[in-house]
Amino acid sequence: MCGIMGYIGDENAADIIISGLEELEYRGYDSAGLAVGNGTEVKTAKVVGSPSGLRKETEGISGHIGIGHTRWATHGAPTVTNAHPHISGSGLFTVVHNGIIENYAELKAELEEQGFEFKSDTDTEVIAQMLEHLYNGDLKGTVSAALSRFKGSYALGIMCRDYPDCIVCAKLSSPLFAGVSRGCVYLASDVSAIAGKGDRIFRVNDGEIGILKKDGLKIFDLDGCRIRKSEIKIKAFDRNSDKGGYKHYMLKEITEQPAAVRRTLSEFINESGRIKFKGLHLTKQEIQDLDQIIFVACGSAYHVGTVGAYACEKLCKKHARAVIASEFRYMHPYLDEKTLVVIISQSGETADTLAAMRIAEKKGAKIIGIVNVENSTIAQECKNVIMTRAGKEVAVATTKAYSAQLAVVYALAIRLAEISGTLSRRETAEYVAELKAVPDKIEILLSDIEKYKSFADIADSSGYICFIGRGFDYCAAMEASLKLKEISYIPCEAYAAGELKHGTISLIDRNSLTVALCCQEELKQKTESNVNEVRARNGKTITVSSSDGDIVIPKTLDIFTPSLEVIPLQLLAYYTALKRGCPIDKPRNLAKSVTVE
Ligand code: F6R
Repeated sequence: MCGIMGYIGDENAADIIISGLEELEYRGYDSAGLAVGNGTEVKTAKVVGSPSGLRKETEGISGHIGIGHTRWATHGAPTVTNAHPHISGSGLFTVVHNGIIENYAELKAELEEQGFEFKSDTDTEVIAQMLEHLYNGDLKGTVSAALSRFKGSYALGIMCRDYPDCIVCAKLSSPLFAGVSRGCVYLASDVSAIAGKGDRIFRVNDGEIGILKKDGLKIFDLDGCRIRKSEIKIKAFDRNSDKGGYKHYMLKEITEQPAAVRRTLSEFINESGRIKFKGLHLTKQEIQDLDQIIFVACGSAYHVGTVGAYACEKLCKKHARAVIASEFRYMHPYLDEKTLVVIISQSGETADTLAAMRIAEKKGAKIIGIVNVENSTIAQECKNVIMTRAGKEVAVATTKAYSAQLAVVYALAIRLAEISGTLSRRETAEYVAELKAVPDKIEILLSDIEKYKSFADIADSSGYICFIGRGFDYCAAMEASLKLKEISYIPCEAYAAGELKHGTISLIDRNSLTVALCCQEELKQKTESNVNEVRARNGKTITVSSSDGDIVIPKTLDIFTPSLEVIPLQLLAYYTALKRGCPIDKPRNLAKSVTVE
């Protein structure tokens, strides 16, 4: 979602900020802006659209300190007025903000009563005005006092006219990083914007206030006491973000899946085929005592959770289910110390998933986090973390992170079953051997990607697309449907094949396409009967199976089929969106990291 970039140093701040904001574009945005100070005054520029539009707007603006922002509209339309930075009434404070101030309406009314006038529809303007209202000459103290008034989430970059050589930063439930090099400092909401720039990178935590000056960074708690921080390390493959000759990041990331899955598996499967999760600190007894396993996540990560739940139910013989994080957090879930909650998140910052994890923690459940971004909030807060090693994922629609997450949930289910005694040593070895073969089988599917183009022609000419499947096929159908709808904008949905007759079949006509996933040997014929019902009503069909479908995938054990059947369907989504001229890497209205509810 929104992105923050700040800089103090000898270079032209506007140039550095704009290129940092461009690096953050993948997160999703609709407008951008920046403020640059030259010691005596602060000038701002804002545009609707891409941050590159700021280059023209900042032609006459120079200075060595500044803050910038990409906005994904929450309060107020994407207009120049609503774009950040926002400035307080007298121009004393300039603010960029990620997150939502939930009590902004109440605070706005209070400030209006004091005579403050508001120009925008945003919640952020309240922050700038509140800072001015509370200002007593002590910058750090004023920021601390203002923060105590805000409810919600924020990552903030603040400039104050009385302190022209510094940027103040603070955060609550929204990520923020500072980078320090000789003679310059950086501020960013995503470590990727400063990874190659700052020599030493620091994470700002909730309840901290950072003061950035050209010669370094000082962090304080809200009472003004200095805090010593350790720098964080960034893995080389997390930095790689060029398109590598591909037309889109999404296609590049689809082709990177064998490597992403191999790298992930090698984190916890050793040479002799034993599974050992380094980040898992649950005892054998705690695992054996578990009586329910709940996978909690959003979007594609939730679809991975459905696979995890089916796999745990089958292999561990324990109650297992997947719950959407935004539902979980308000459903008063019954959890106790015999519950394992598995949190799945690529970004490690998804607001609902993070909140769900905190609720589960409070209720005493055991928690495991499956995360792709090492320095993310979930990776930092969760006591038991299993990292996916998909590398940096830039396309908004996830592909390689989804595949890497699947690899983890399979291994987790196998390991939990082994410890619980529901899989013998021999069965465990068979599952592990087949899991290790998954990347090679994905490679086979990727050896001729162009052949899926003809299926995209069928999808493109369809007004409605339904993905059906049973068991693990149903889990993959949900992901395939989301992938196609989010990047091609064709209305799609996924149905458990047996549910088709309970309503959805009324949508089947010659303009509809039904994609049937029939890769579970024991359920294949049942889903094929559903395909016949669709054909009898003139609906178009594409079948995916491991023997005789329109699309044929390599054979594997049933629990691993989602990893294989999803590959051609990711390509179906990609080529359909390509044919329709859609902005594949950044679909409209979507953001890579969903940091608000
Ligand atoms: C879809 C997609 C999203 C994410 C969801 C959760 O292609 O990428 O549905 O899976 O927003 O994001 P994370 O995994 O970062 O929590």
